[in-house]
Amino acid sequence: MIHILGRTWGLLLFLLFLPTDVSAQQNQDETVCIQCHGGIPGAIGAPVRQWQGSIHQRHGVLCFHCHGGDPTDFGLAHSPERGFLGAPGDEDVPKFCGRCHVGVTEDYFESAHGQALGAGGPNCVTCHGSHAVQRATSELINPQDCTRCHEYGRAEEIKNAIAGTEAFISSLEGDVAALHRLGIDTSRLEGSIFSVRNEFRRLFHSVDVERVRNETDNFQQQLGVIAGQVEALQAELARRKVWGGAVVVLLILAGVLSLLLYKSYMEGKEG
Ligand code: HEC
Ligand code: HEC
Ligand code: HEC
Ligand code: HEC
Ligand code: HEC
Repeated sequence: MIHILGRTWGLLLFLLFLPTDVSAQQNQDETVCIQCHGGIPGAIGAPVRQWQGSIHQRHGVLCFHCHGGDPTDFGLAHSPERGFLGAPGDEDVPKFCGRCHVGVTEDYFESAHGQALGAGGPNCVTCHGSHAVQRATSELINPQDCTRCHEYGRAEEIKNAIAGTEAFISSLEGDVAALHRLGIDTSRLEGSIFSVRNEFRRLFHSVDVERVRNETDNFQQQLGVIAGQVEALQAELARRKVWGGAVVVLLILAGVLSLLLYKSYMEGKEG
């Protein structure tokens, strides 16, 4: 009974979510923003092509989520009454992005970069771009991009401070994936790594070498605790393997022994 109910619910949920999912996909191409801009050559049409395949496009963040306006009406698309914001100027970019990326933007405004906004400091778009934004990694910290305004020294120190923790996180992720493949429930471990990783990736925007170093110690400690749990699981598995091995050896011995006994019994009978 419970089984049948479960299935009915599953089907209901499926039917409920299927149509909205499909229409969300269609809406993406049906917004008047993409229909009109997509057909215009040059700088006014370029954002559509750059935005395709971006992390925002893949997460359903469309033109009007950033720029405002009415995505369903050709005539009112740019209407300020429908919330159209236009394109932000350099100094307005952090607030523009900060409507969604609240924590990062707070860190940014407190940093040397945020303090120098409008006076030679970089804004979000300087490092991430505006339309072709991809998942952020420490690869964004490199001599080519970070020496446009100052020397690479302190940028490199931050990158080095980040690199150790980043490597620690990926090796833990690898170990946990291996445990998962052996059929162990690793969802709690995955959750802990995920939350440490998220907190850790915010740190960069402070561009404060001292702070990154200090907090890195804290993160390493948290990761150390998770590593301890992973090692305990691995040790448990190894113990089971040894016992499993011992049982197999005993079974083989028992088999050989009974074969010998049987043989000598038969020989005794014949002789
Ligand atoms: C009927 C065609 C058309 C539609 C529909 C349309 N746009 Fe535009 N858009 C343009 C043209 C042409 C320009 C350049 C001239 C101008 O600024 O009006 C432009 C300019 C822009 C700019 C740059 C403005 C600036 O301040 O430099 C942004 C941002 C923009 N559109 C976003 C949108 C969004 C978001 C939508 C949907 C809600 C949309 N557009 C719908 C044709 C369109
Ligand atoms: C993640 C937020 C975001 C999304 C999504 C986004 N834009 Fe933009 N757009 C910006 C920012 C920031 C600028 C201004 C900085 C710049 O020019 O790079 C901008 C600038 C523009 C401009 C002015 C370009 C110029 O050279 O004058 C146009 C036109 C535009 N966007 C259209 C679009 C269209 C069409 C879409 C949907 C395909 C879109 N944008 C999606 C953030 C966004
Ligand atoms: C000087 C270059 C630079 C500037 C300016 C910058 N970022 Fe970043 N951002 C990075 C780097 C590098 C990372 C990756 C850090 C890591 O992986 O440890 C990152 C990571 C991110 C992430 C992913 C991490 C997370 O916590 O979700 C987001 C979102 C982000 N940035 C948004 C922004 C926004 C919004 C602004 C403007 C307020 C901004 N960035 C300004 C370089 C920059
Ligand atoms: C309407 C909300 C919204 C706005 C405005 C917005 N973003 Fe995003 N952004 C998202 C969502 C949703 C994601 C995908 C989920 C995630 O990774 O947080 C994302 C992801 C990102 C990432 C990748 C994060 C990662 O984990 O590596 C970066 C970098 C980023 N955005 C930068 C920007 C920049 C720069 C701007 C301004 C030009 C901006 N965003 C404006 C909603 C927004
Ligand atoms: C558009 C110009 C510009 C770009 C690009 C830029 N910076 Fe900066 N940066 C500044 C300014 C301005 C300051 C503040 C004045 C100073 O300390 O030199 C600064 C300061 C710093 C500081 C010192 C902070 C402190 O409190 O001591 C670090 C670290 C830093 N930037 C790292 C980076 C990294 C990493 C990148 C590349 C991802 C980068 N910067 C790209 C303009 C830039």
